[in-house]
Amino acid sequence: MELFERLTKRAAENRRSIVLPEGTETRNLQAADRILFENLADIILIGNPDEIKTRASELGLCNIDKARIVDPADKDVIDKYAPLFFELRKKKGVSMEDARRFTSNELYLGCLMVKAGDADGMVSGAIHTTGDVLRAAFQVIKTRPGIDTVSGAFLMLLPPDSPFGEDGIMVFADCAVVPDPDARQLAQIAVCAAETAHNVAGIHPRVAILSFSTKGSASHERVDKVIEATKLAHEMAPDLELDGELQTDAAIVPVVAAQKAPQSHVAGHANVLVFPSLEVGNIAYKLVQRLAGVEAVGPLLQGLAAPVSDLSRGCVATDIYKTIIMTANQAIED
Ligand code: ACO
Repeated sequence: MELFERLTKRAAENRRSIVLPEGTETRNLQAADRILFENLADIILIGNPDEIKTRASELGLCNIDKARIVDPADKDVIDKYAPLFFELRKKKGVSMEDARRFTSNELYLGCLMVKAGDADGMVSGAIHTTGDVLRAAFQVIKTRPGIDTVSGAFLMLLPPDSPFGEDGIMVFADCAVVPDPDARQLAQIAVCAAETAHNVAGIHPRVAILSFSTKGSASHERVDKVIEATKLAHEMAPDLELDGELQTDAAIVPVVAAQKAPQSHVAGHANVLVFPSLEVGNIAYKLVQRLAGVEAVGPLLQGLAAPVSDLSRGCVATDIYKTIIMTANQAIED
């Protein structure tokens, strides 16, 4: 079964609620309408109710009346969620007045609804920047136990005849969040990427932490970082099939692996590639996407206590529809 077919079926069977803070925006409304028509998730739209209804009617969307609409200007809404924001941020010097102001911001309100358990996940970023979406999620939803660094993975959907990956999928991380991870953060990125591969892509993760060196072929402090990250990741997840430091060819090409890393069980067969910095990860996923015509799905934020997905501002309604399905899947516990 194709990845999206499987994820769509799983979303429908485990109906989760997803909050869309950009609830008055056309592409969000079109995506929400399709999700509701296909009964794949409950949808909460944040925005002025009249504006949402008028826009939906102008767009000829017939299913938006099945969504719950939450008005960020509604005093009752602010009264309900501002105390939670205050509790979460008072140590940072936030006053109750500040908390009420933050709560009336749709991104923070969406995150607060997730934090309060009134929504299972959030999708945003069609009009807000990545930084704005991430900052709200970091401050309110925070990280899950054992993790203090959120990162972003892409599912790379390979051509059907590709010898790489598993079931036509590879996972790349971090391609979206942490500019210059230290060894400890890199280890967390690797462990979280393995979870993304298992929980969302449905593949058995074999993780390579990449470098310009394979098993000591080069010496440099950046190589040392990857060696240390590999050690820490092993300590965090002893049962995980993971290895480093590996060059990309040693990680994914069996004949090169046999030469460069003959002792490694991962080399030659890696399906989760962990990049040593955001520069490499972001550039690599875009190169593979554009030069090889590979569909890149994501970024899937990993390490948060509840799922939040950041959209590209250039996205179309179908991208938001797919992201809602992915986010709903991230909210399903196995
Ligand atoms: N994981 C968890 N928490 C984090 C992380 C992280 N990776 N980064 C920052 N935080 C927390 C901080 O601890 C802090 O929490 P606190 O307020 O409770 O103390 C809060 O978030 C804000 O931290 P800042 O250091 O002020 O973070 P800042 O807002 O400067 O930057 C950001 C965070 C926006 C994510 C930054 O790391 C960034 O810009 N990353 C790159 C994002 C990007 O542009 N990606 C490329 C485009 S996406 C794409 O192409 C797919």
